[in-house]
Amino acid sequence: MDKVKVLFVCLGNICRSPTAHGVFQHLVSERGLSQQIDVDSAGTSDWHIGRSPDSRAQAAALQRGCDLSALSARQVSSADFYDFDYILAMDNQNLQDLEQVSPAGFSGYLELFLPYGNIGEPREVPDPYYGGEQGFDQVLDMVELASTGLLNHICKRQGWS
Ligand code: 4NP
Repeated sequence: MDKVKVLFVCLGNICRSPTAHGVFQHLVSERGLSQQIDVDSAGTSDWHIGRSPDSRAQAAALQRGCDLSALSARQVSSADFYDFDYILAMDNQNLQDLEQVSPAGFSGYLELFLPYGNIGEPREVPDPYYGGEQGFDQVLDMVELASTGLLNHICKRQGWS
């Protein structure tokens, strides 16, 4: 059976998308689905390629049992549209940027991530980079909700639940 492949995308790939990557990966592993689901993250920009996640994102995630230290930023590429089934953007600008480079034949899901949390509004994960530490906790709250919703959606669609 083919694996389900999920890519989280934000602007820098050092705050929001690595947080989603780590939290979703953790959830997938808790549910015993690591062999069935691959998780990755990337940025629309090339600004932080090769860097570890922002230290504030790492600290906030670690408090919730999620270690992001092994992650390293990369830029999204056209190959990603052939590799991934789900390409999930943190905000509308990320989504617009992805739509501009998406090949015509892409048949996967290219959409916002937060609506999987079924909370109505907001639909975007706010960028915490220029704010304080509490912004990172807020991102985690949102990402945890959306990760649970996304995993439930994938399991239902695959007939795993
Ligand atoms: P991210 O946050 O897109 O969630 O990784 C940002 C990280 C860096 C910058 C902006 C947003 N920056 O301007 O360098």
